[in-house]
Amino acid sequence: MANVMLEVRELTTKYITRFQEDVYAVDHVSLKVEEGKSLGIAGESGCGKSTLALSLMGYYFAPLHYTSGQIMIDGKNISGMDPDEVRKSVLGREIAYIPQAAMNALNPTQKIIHFIEDVVQAHDLYVTKKDIYERARILFETLGLPAEVLQKYPVELSGGMKQRTVIAVSVLLVPKVLIADEPSSALDVTSQKMVIKMLRKLMEGGLISSMIFITHELPLLYNVTDDIMVMYAGQIVEKGTAHEAVFDPLHPYSKGLMGSIIVPEKGLRDVKLTAIPGVPPNLKNPPMGCRFAERCKFVRPECTFSSVPVREVGNGRMYRCVLSEDQLREAYAREAHKNGK
Ligand SMILES: Nc1ncnc2c1ncn2[C@@H]1O[C@H](COP(=O)(O)OP(=O)(O)OP(=O)(O)O)[C@@H](O)[C@H]1O
Ligand code: SF4
Ligand SMILES: [Mg+2]
Repeated sequence: MANVMLEVRELTTKYITRFQEDVYAVDHVSLKVEEGKSLGIAGESGCGKSTLALSLMGYYFAPLHYTSGQIMIDGKNISGMDPDEVRKSVLGREIAYIPQAAMNALNPTQKIIHFIEDVVQAHDLYVTKKDIYERARILFETLGLPAEVLQKYPVELSGGMKQRTVIAVSVLLVPKVLIADEPSSALDVTSQKMVIKMLRKLMEGGLISSMIFITHELPLLYNVTDDIMVMYAGQIVEKGTAHEAVFDPLHPYSKGLMGSIIVPEKGLRDVKLTAIPGVPPNLKNPPMGCRFAERCKFVRPECTFSSVPVREVGNGRMYRCVLSEDQLREAYAREAHKNGK
């Protein structure tokens, strides 16, 4: 059986605003990522993807607070660990994060090699500069970055090169889990493909043991990850293989995210995304029952007052809805018929 690199059970975290309001941006989230596997997380803006990424690292600082649940990295429980201890022994080594604003993650006043020396020496006081240079050179070479980049300042690099440098820096300590939070959204399609290729190469080369990739773009995710989790208003609404989530979504929100024009045999380039009317609810005061109810085409009275069941449908696949799989499939077939498809 494969080693589980990351296992999260019922993790709940919240922001406390300056008006002392609680915003539960991660609400009872459970997930698992095995060695050599990748998980994609998709959802609209404000659904809690970045908050989940930050929460998974176990490193909390105001206004974000841990509330409950467990985070296990390679069998080690890091939830509730002292922040200093997390910074010293978990970040970078056990779990690494490429932030959404990755372009700004490098220090503009430092040459890349000096930035790398600081990162490595923060975790290993005894490593020599010569060894750090050699490690960085080999890593950069593996990722197709010329060694000269090490002697440059961030401002001297192109957007794509800066992005690749940030990714290379984030895996210097060979983390067990790498979280890439929309690392490609600011880049053109060619650069996006390059980033994806790089991340795959890192997994294949054993430079990371598992990966979480966050994006708005479900079709992009399909080519990158083994599994996909769809997040809405702080909760997981669907989880399955990438193929299931993209080509056979069960939850009405996932269905809406993918739009209705999916042509598998023609490839994902032909998928046309259609926006879901409305916006996610304010998490300061989320609605009772299903959080998607206000925007759902299939809403029923019970959706808004009963608690919504999480339905397991085999092989680790789940979705959160009052409707059964058969009821949903029937509703989608009726809808397709009505639209003449
Ligand atoms: N510092 C904060 N204080 C209070 N609420 C916050 C804070 N930061 C984020 N939130 C709220 O938490 C929720 C989740 O935000 P988050 O940034 O995690 O979403 P996201 O899915 O990553 O969005 P995007 O796709 O735009 O990056 C949002 O409703 C947001 O308003
Ligand atoms: S619970 Fe009801 S409102 Fe929510 S997604 Fe399912 S059908 Fe739609
Ligand atoms: Mg985000």
